Formats: sequence, structure tokens, C-alpha cells
Amino acid sequence: MKIHCPVCRHTNLLNDDDISGFLFSFQCENCQNLLSVKIQVHALNVVKTGRQQTQPSDRKNQVAAFIYENKDKLNLPVLPVLATKIRRIRNNASGTLNDVVDLVRSDQIIATKILRLANSALYGGLVEITDLKMAIMRLGLTVTETLVTALENKRLYTSDHAVLLDFLEKMWRHSLGVAVTSQNIAEQVKYPQVEEVFTAGLLHDFGYILCLQALQQGEGFNVDFNRFTEEEFFNLCFEEHTKLGAWYLSEAGLPPKLTNVVAFHEEIPSEESDNSALHIVALANLLCKKVGIGAKHEPEIRLEVTESAQFLNLNEVQLANLEVHCEDLTQKLAEMLQ
Ligand SMILES: [Fe+2]
Ligand SMILES: [Fe+2]
Repeated sequence: MKIHCPVCRHTNLLNDDDISGFLFSFQCENCQNLLSVKIQVHALNVVKTGRQQTQPSDRKNQVAAFIYENKDKLNLPVLPVLATKIRRIRNNASGTLNDVVDLVRSDQIIATKILRLANSALYGGLVEITDLKMAIMRLGLTVTETLVTALENKRLYTSDHAVLLDFLEKMWRHSLGVAVTSQNIAEQVKYPQVEEVFTAGLLHDFGYILCLQALQQGEGFNVDFNRFTEEEFFNLCFEEHTKLGAWYLSEAGLPPKLTNVVAFHEEIPSEESDNSALHIVALANLLCKKVGIGAKHEPEIRLEVTESAQFLNLNEVQLANLEVHCEDLTQKLAEMLQ
């Protein structure tokens, strides 16, 4: 059995023989904290029709199997197309500012929001801008690209089920928080590909979106969303969300550098232990959980003892500053993107 330490998030592997009952204690092999573990059996409100109620592990597999089989039917908004095209123009020596402006203008909703963001307190100057080209010049191409990515990403977090909107809003804030925090960590540790970790941060929990779509669209899943709790959702989808997200994004043509971050952000395998982008996003994910940006709030996490903080050489003071700064910045940016 795998047990994640709530303090340092290290994954402890326990033999079944070491588990002495529904309630037992053991010492985390990384941070040495004594942990008490309570094994809970959750009664999930998901059943396949026409069959006997299945075990939780079967249900997890059913959700994953449904996604693997119905990739094209999942009716997901297309992934950051505009942002990807902007990046291509920026990387192309013959690409011009006008090319970027034309692209942004092709999506009226995004164009309007970019204009608003350029005039906002976060990015604004003294003079009000009403022209899109001037707005993009004020923001700069790097910021424009990250904002377009964030605006496109927001479209993933919608549902016809009104009861899910609050949960989706928290999930969206979490993805934005991890993106903003990843960007800030990258700047602090002088990691050069800042936009890359921002995008990886936005997409790191993409697997959850897939699971939520599957539960809504899978004909055989009878989910009563009025009674379905966030805790049940995470119990059902946590284990598979990394693999599913990475698989889907890689099928959609996103590069392995990004899909690896999605695949391993919850648990870094030894062969990825020198992957800086992965450590940045994994740490940002923990920081957001610690301060409560998103559906999960885990204040007991101690960032300074995590493998990622140690790898990135960030001390307690730097981490505390990041916590305050990133929470504030995420809040401001979320308001601007609404
Ligand atoms: Fe995750
Ligand atoms: Fe996350």
C-alpha cells in the first residue's frame, strides 16, 4: 500500500503485513514524523446500471476505461490552440507582432479580455488603451501568451450541472494558482522556460477534467451530483488522474516535456528526479494545497522538507514569501480573468 506523508508528501510503501488494522501508526521514512493512518472505506455513489454494486477499485477502473475508450466523444473544448499558435509565431524568425494581434483578434472574447487586462491595475499604465495592438505591446508577447493560455484554459471548467459549478471554480482556481506559483518559482530559481511551466501548471490536473466529463457523459454511470461529494470525487479519481491527463494530452500532440510533468506531479519517480520543470510544478501544487487554493486545503504540509524544495534549493523564508505572494497574485489574476 502507498501512503503519502501529509507533512512532506513523500510516498511510503508499506507491505500488507505492516498494516495492523484500520488504525495504525508508522514513521515517515523521509521526514521521520510519526503518522497515524486510518483506513476508511468510502461508499461511493457511482454504480454501473444492470450490475451489482462494484468495489471502489473497480469503479476507478471503469472511469479510466470509459475515458480510454471514448476519447473522441468526451466533448472537451480544444486545448490552448491560440496560445500554441502564438508560441509558434514567437519562435519563428519571420513572425511579426501583427501576426499575434490578428490571431488574438480572431477570438473576440479573448481579445476583449486581453484589452481589459492591459488596462487593469495589475498591468495597466497611466493612459487607457482601446486598441488591441497597443494592449499587446503594453503586456509584451510573453505575458500575452500566458494570459491567452489562461483564458483558453478557463473554458475547460464548465458544466451543464449547476451543482458542479462551485467545484469547477475551485478546480480552475487551483490550476491558475499552480500556474502562477510555478511561474514565480521558475523566476526565483532562474529556470528559463517560464511560459512552459505556467502552461504545465494550468494543465497539471487535466485528468480530473476528464474524470468529471466521463462521470457526466458515461451512460452507464448513475451519479447523483446533488449527493456526490468532493471527497468522493477525489477518492475515485486521484490515483488515475495523472496517468489519464498525461495520456490525453500526449494524444492531443503536446510534447513529452509537458506530459511528463502531468504524469508525475503527484509522485516523482527516481528517473525524473533531476527534472526541474517537474519539481517546480510539483512544489507549486503542494504550495497551493497548503494555502488552500482549490478544493483541497492541507495546511499541515511542510514545504521545506519536500524533495522538490530541497532540489530547487528554496529555504523556509523564500517559501513563506512565495506562499503569500502567490496567493495574492492568484486572487488578483482570477478576478481579472472572470
Ligand atoms: Fe494532481
Ligand atoms: Fe493539483
